[in-house]
Amino acid sequence: MIASTAINPEHYVSEDTFQRELENVFKQHWLFIGFKDELANHNDFLTLEIAGFPIVVQNFNGELSALLNICSHRKARLQTASKGNRPLRCPYHCWSFKEGGKLAGIPGNNQEFQLDEAQKEKLSLRQFAVDSCGDFVFVRLAPEGQSLKEFLGDCYGMLEDFSDHFTDPVHSGKYQWQSNWKLAVETVLEVYHVPGTHPDSFSHLAKAECDIISVPPHNLGNTPLLDAPKKWWSGVRKQLKLIQHPQLNEYNHVFVYPNLAIGITNGSLMSVQTYDVIDRTQTVLHYRLRMLGTAQGHAKDGALKRAVVANFSDFNHTILEEDRLMAESCQQSYAHTDTAAILGKCEDRIRLFHDAWRNDMETRP
Ligand code: FES
Ligand SMILES: [Fe+2]
Repeated sequence: MIASTAINPEHYVSEDTFQRELENVFKQHWLFIGFKDELANHNDFLTLEIAGFPIVVQNFNGELSALLNICSHRKARLQTASKGNRPLRCPYHCWSFKEGGKLAGIPGNNQEFQLDEAQKEKLSLRQFAVDSCGDFVFVRLAPEGQSLKEFLGDCYGMLEDFSDHFTDPVHSGKYQWQSNWKLAVETVLEVYHVPGTHPDSFSHLAKAECDIISVPPHNLGNTPLLDAPKKWWSGVRKQLKLIQHPQLNEYNHVFVYPNLAIGITNGSLMSVQTYDVIDRTQTVLHYRLRMLGTAQGHAKDGALKRAVVANFSDFNHTILEEDRLMAESCQQSYAHTDTAAILGKCEDRIRLFHDAWRNDMETRP
């Protein structure tokens, strides 16, 4: 028998497991927050919440700081949007902050507080590690830990390479799934579900087979594309004057533990997804689609490009909705079963994901 056994269902519903995951998984590893071009200008920012724990990454004169997104005064959120460009100034009473989370200004300090420099220093925002690999920006909540390069290991060079090619951000969005984050992740780690879940969508794109490579705690999967989508993409590249990625021509997929999935279709389109934790049964799927750049920058924004982007954005939406229904279905069942799921050969990336998870949950206190 080559089948393996999945994580027990209780770990998809238990509050105790969820709290341990926050400590042992999400607070330990580097988490993807966005792309450098989303943070290119002074005061550009991105926010991320991990089970409500709020983080902001902001550009201060070209330098990125990752900070706790909670005002030191009376604890309002500093940045309330998921991305944008504005000074790091609290909307409540207008305290403002600068690089490294240091206080930049307190309205009426002399009359209201009379805080001296040393006291202001103590009111700096908590700061976290931030680093990038190519255009991918990551944060780490734990003060100590592996460097981003050590953590990404074999994936480091891949992400640098993807950054060189997929430079054109064409679409992004978020969906809320009523499922545990692990169930959401598991939907992208196998193609065994394709004929059942995606009979009229992904089935027309790729075969239900996969070459799996383990690069712990991460893993890779390559799935052959059918001829029709290859032809379609070849036509698109010709029309938009795009040059295909030289090595990637199938559906090439990289999973960066714990919650980043990167799928590349025919060396032409990169889909980047994170599964952000809300609570034990809710996850936000945040996707970003990026196309190949051209020698001149990005493909011209004409009618053809708009039609192409609309086409694969619709396709992406359909597939994610189909996956959501299955993840939510399993989530509902997991409260009523105590026998673990069984995983076949084609689902071996889920076993690898579970091995990494078990390692975190068992080896850390
Ligand atoms: S809570 Fe932020 S300035 Fe008052
Ligand atoms: Fe799927």
